[in-house]
Amino acid sequence: MSNGTREKWSGGIGFTLAAVGSAVGLGNMWRFSYMAAENGGAAFVILYVLLTLLVGLPVMLAELTLGRGAGRSPVQALIHYGGRAWAPLGGLFVLAGFVILAYYGVLAGWTVRYAVEAVVWGFPADAGAHFGAISEGHGAAAWHLAFMALTIFVVSGGVKNGIERVSLALMPVLGVLVVGLALYAATLDGAVDGYRYYFTTEFAAILNPDVLRDAAGQAFFSLSLGMGAILTYASYLSRERDLPREAVLIASSDFAVAFIAGLVVFPLVFALGLQEQVGASTLGALFVTLPQAFADMGGTGRVIGALFMVALAVGALTSAISLLEVVVASAIDTFAMPRVRAAWLLGGAIALLGLVAAYDIGMLDLMDKIGGNLLLVLGGFSLSIFAGWVLGPELLDEVHPDGRQRLALRLWLVMLRFVVPAILAVVLVYSAADAWSAVAARWFGEG
Ligand code: PHE
Repeated sequence: MSNGTREKWSGGIGFTLAAVGSAVGLGNMWRFSYMAAENGGAAFVILYVLLTLLVGLPVMLAELTLGRGAGRSPVQALIHYGGRAWAPLGGLFVLAGFVILAYYGVLAGWTVRYAVEAVVWGFPADAGAHFGAISEGHGAAAWHLAFMALTIFVVSGGVKNGIERVSLALMPVLGVLVVGLALYAATLDGAVDGYRYYFTTEFAAILNPDVLRDAAGQAFFSLSLGMGAILTYASYLSRERDLPREAVLIASSDFAVAFIAGLVVFPLVFALGLQEQVGASTLGALFVTLPQAFADMGGTGRVIGALFMVALAVGALTSAISLLEVVVASAIDTFAMPRVRAAWLLGGAIALLGLVAAYDIGMLDLMDKIGGNLLLVLGGFSLSIFAGWVLGPELLDEVHPDGRQRLALRLWLVMLRFVVPAILAVVLVYSAADAWSAVAARWFGEG
């Protein structure tokens, strides 16, 4: 556990790309579009941007600061700063990593399968039937396990040789693909209708607490906040880094990819006249509607679709890596477990938990509500209390010991103390109610 021997990023843009890789994933290209479609289009996007600025950025900077300051994984970092009493919050982070990665692996498995199938056979004519066949059961389980094995393999390679290498190689590819796809989508006939749908605002939606809940949960999910992923990555960072700058870079890249992905998805859907399907948006919708659009487009669709699925799979991999790294780093720091053993043991356990979602899509949805929304909001809320009230002003020196940017950092502290917890307390109530009604509907047959 000695900090002297702890692995570090190699400097340069390795850390930034890895952190952007964590943030950019299925959340941007699948969850964002489907949530925007479900929650009043631009109203959702506006609320999302506001929440990213008011809540996401402050929490991101807190995670970066605590991670680098402690130079340890979440559980140990919280103990380091707050004593044993705060260890359970680290435990909550690890739990969130378990739950999220378990179902994330299943979604990623679908994605990789689509990518491979698109290259080998093209997209099947009846996307709905195909999705029904692959989304649950042995096939979903097998692709999930394969994806998890790949994730475990990268994480066992370590920070520099595993995570950083993969991020350096893959993130530029993802960026080029997403921008290229958006440019292509702009040339489609239905593009304007797609944009119009995307940017039409039902302003009433902004006042709807369910939209607030989804936008806040999505901001945390997409930015990889509230479960120690950014904290863990920052723990391998050297002192010289300008953390506020990194926070802005990561958050703006993440938003850019989500926003541009919307510019791909909506024109495609409208060009092929499939908007009805998105209107009835459920978790699986994009996994049906988009493949249907690609199938209907013939040969071009096959190429475009394969590229889209590859971009999605790349994003999923670099995000899954960061989810696993939280759990693995905690085991390394806490039990002095060798990295390779920790990766296979814990990654294996998560993969097994994911089988629940692979065999039952209802469980996948439930795990997303609990892990992908409730646990992250709870984690972010607790972390803002910890950073803002338990640590307070001593945090400022951890960001810039030389007293730079004092005014901005003081404002940050005010946000962490008042604005972030106040907003998240409201969101928490709605997230808990939502998760509870999903649980009740499932086990007590209500709703
Ligand atoms: N941010 C990732 C995405 O958008 C998911 C994620 C959540 C990764 C939490 C790490 C931690 O797909």
